[in-house]
Amino acid sequence: MTTTPVSAPLTSGIPLSLYVLGRESDPRSERGVECPGDLPPASDPSLVERARRAKAALGERLFILGHHYQRDEVIQFADVTGDSFKLAREAAARPEAEFIVFCGVHFMAESADILTAPNQKVILPDLAAGCSMADMARLAQVEDAWDVLADAGVADVTVPVTYMNSSADIKAFCGEHGGVVCTSSNAKSVLDWAFDRGDHAKLGGSRGSSPSAETKVLFFPDQHLGRNTAVLQMGMSLDDCVLYDPHQVDGGVTADQLRAAKMILWKGHCSVHGRFSPEAVDDVRVRMPGVQVLVHPECQHEVVLKADLVGSTEFIIKAVEKAAPGSKWAIGTELNLVKRLAAAHPDQEIAFLEQHVCYCATMNRIDLPHLVWALENLAQGHVVNQITVDAKTEHFAKIALQRMLDLPGETAKD
Ligand code: 13P
Ligand code: SF4
Repeated sequence: MTTTPVSAPLTSGIPLSLYVLGRESDPRSERGVECPGDLPPASDPSLVERARRAKAALGERLFILGHHYQRDEVIQFADVTGDSFKLAREAAARPEAEFIVFCGVHFMAESADILTAPNQKVILPDLAAGCSMADMARLAQVEDAWDVLADAGVADVTVPVTYMNSSADIKAFCGEHGGVVCTSSNAKSVLDWAFDRGDHAKLGGSRGSSPSAETKVLFFPDQHLGRNTAVLQMGMSLDDCVLYDPHQVDGGVTADQLRAAKMILWKGHCSVHGRFSPEAVDDVRVRMPGVQVLVHPECQHEVVLKADLVGSTEFIIKAVEKAAPGSKWAIGTELNLVKRLAAAHPDQEIAFLEQHVCYCATMNRIDLPHLVWALENLAQGHVVNQITVDAKTEHFAKIALQRMLDLPGETAKD
């Protein structure tokens, strides 16, 4: 049955399609609404033992990856923990594992599937573990944006760069259009590469553009990571950046603005990090004299400007690990990680930057019942919740991912 989307008026004048759930009219947003199996109850006191037993039964056939934002109850079973860059590399480096169970979110599991061999199976314990930021850039919207850039005469001098937090088809778009993937650990190196590549491609004439036109980057989906990296690490000004809103006609920008910009930022954000406010930084400095404010680059530019240190989750962990006893921190990233850091370093004072920010709801979807359910099924020979990327998407997405993994320098380190 096909369902006609309900159109809702938008302030921009463009109707947004609202689909009715449960009618398979929008499989992406219905993904994982129900778990296809019998989940053990969260109250089952034997869950930890069951997970241990299933993991032991699978032995070397199983490798469990855990993103730093996962719950403690899940992270205790991870063979390796990391940020999205480290986990992508770890997945690619485990050819012996038949099952990669990814305790993280959907786009990470897709990347793992792309980077692993065809005989390896990547499992996401709960298919509803998506990412609201990744959902803010859909392939059709990105293709429309590329047409807008072409109409403005700048597509040929633009390198598309997608944050790891994007779906596989967006990564494939980048691979197919001379672009690349970045993570929060390597955004600067990747952007340096992209601007360099754009300049070379232009000079080689392969993209049919005028050598005098300035290379640009179309960066999606996270405007904040793009802006923070461009302005704070690469010496660009805010005026070098323009914001492309996929919900506005022509992105809400003029052809002249596109031609003048160096960074064309997609209007997307993380619904967790985007909520930390500059006022919270001011407030914590009063409440905790001597505090160092440490935030993730997905935070708003105004927050990052007021912080002492900014970096990926791996960076945040290392900054705390090497700090002296008695150090005081206010950390602006996902709460599971901040709580774990506070528990691991009782000799330091570690606070969560903003009282009103919640856990990442989708990261938290992976809980012990889902992990036990997935592991026990695998141990009994049933492959559940496998994440697969189709061959064409995989081919081009891998090009974009591999360009990132091949970069020298800080991208090669943990
Ligand atoms: P990193 O793992 O790259 O630090 O990203 C944070 C994040 O929001 C992942 O969803
Ligand atoms: Fe997505 Fe933000 Fe959650 Fe990461 S923390 S999975 S970017 S919503």
